[in-house]
Amino acid sequence: MSGFVRVYEVGPRDGLQNESADVSTKQKLELIDGLVAAGLARIEATSFVHPRAVPQMADADAVMSALLTHDGYSATTFTALVLNEKGYDRAYEAGCRHMALGVAVSETFSQRNTRMSTEEAFDTAGRLARRAAEDRVWTRAYLMTAWVCPFEGPMSPRKALAYARRLWEMDIDELSIADTIGHADPLSVGRLLEEIGHQTDMTRLAAHLHDTQVLGLANATAALSAGVRIFDSSVGGLGGCPFAPGAAGNLATEDIVFLAYKMGLGTGVDLGRLWDVVAFADKIIGRRVGGRIRDWWESHADEEPEIFAM
Ligand code: COA
Ligand code: ZN
Repeated sequence: MSGFVRVYEVGPRDGLQNESADVSTKQKLELIDGLVAAGLARIEATSFVHPRAVPQMADADAVMSALLTHDGYSATTFTALVLNEKGYDRAYEAGCRHMALGVAVSETFSQRNTRMSTEEAFDTAGRLARRAAEDRVWTRAYLMTAWVCPFEGPMSPRKALAYARRLWEMDIDELSIADTIGHADPLSVGRLLEEIGHQTDMTRLAAHLHDTQVLGLANATAALSAGVRIFDSSVGGLGGCPFAPGAAGNLATEDIVFLAYKMGLGTGVDLGRLWDVVAFADKIIGRRVGGRIRDWWESHADEEPEIFAM
């Protein structure tokens, strides 16, 4: 099993889409610049969805174009969420060649989130994946509400597994299994990810966790034990989902980086620099953000100097 954890930063997209603060394009680019400097190699920068549905992402075109034309970012991969053809067109036009698509396990969530049934969402995802293959666009797929739906409650693991396989068969490059509202428990997380990993490819499987019920780190530990080595997280634990009542922020990037460090797994992320980004996030969001580890870090980090040498 790999001794390296690949952190996939979703703060600028999953994080900011659910913050009510008015974050300017310039501030987003500054946030992302800090993330790049902290060593986050893969960043989901924005989403090309309907600006009326998610006004926070209305500047997707400007954000993506700015990132892709920046001289200093050639080693960083910037991904965008696209949920329909129009989104794909816009992303492609902006130069984006790394796209994330998605379907939900829950029928009700699918309707509320994208106004599509799950079957329609699968059709759309299939079409987008085929276009991406022709255009040589790298793709990741989200399986949303894999464990619990805010409207329907617990999801059937068999259905989640079947849907994961359906997405996998679209020849996507990476599959991210999402606890969209952060109501999953460690046993269910471990079991489902282990099974999906067996039937797909564990090295291309990601866990997308939220910390709503303070089980983000416990669920991440279960995912690590199941063999998962890719984790979606959001700097400062920003975020949630505007279409999922009760969803709190993502698992914080600083928390997963710290957990990996404690378990002897590398991430390539410089925690010292990451804290500068968390402090910047405080400023643009207008409240103190930060993962579970923040308070301890601020008073004790000098006791564990080796952490800087990760
Ligand atoms: N970007 C910009 N405009 C879009 C668009 C997109 N991605 N998708 C559709 N539109 C426009 C169409 O051009 C059309 O415009 P017109 O009336 O001027 O012709 C109009 O919206 C309706 O198009 P339609 O295909 O019926 O889309 P929709 O209104 O059913 O919206 C989604 C579908 C998926 C784009 C929309 O539900 C959405 O953006 N949801 C947000 C989901 C999300 O981000 N969730 C959080 C992350 S999981
Ligand atoms: Zn999420």
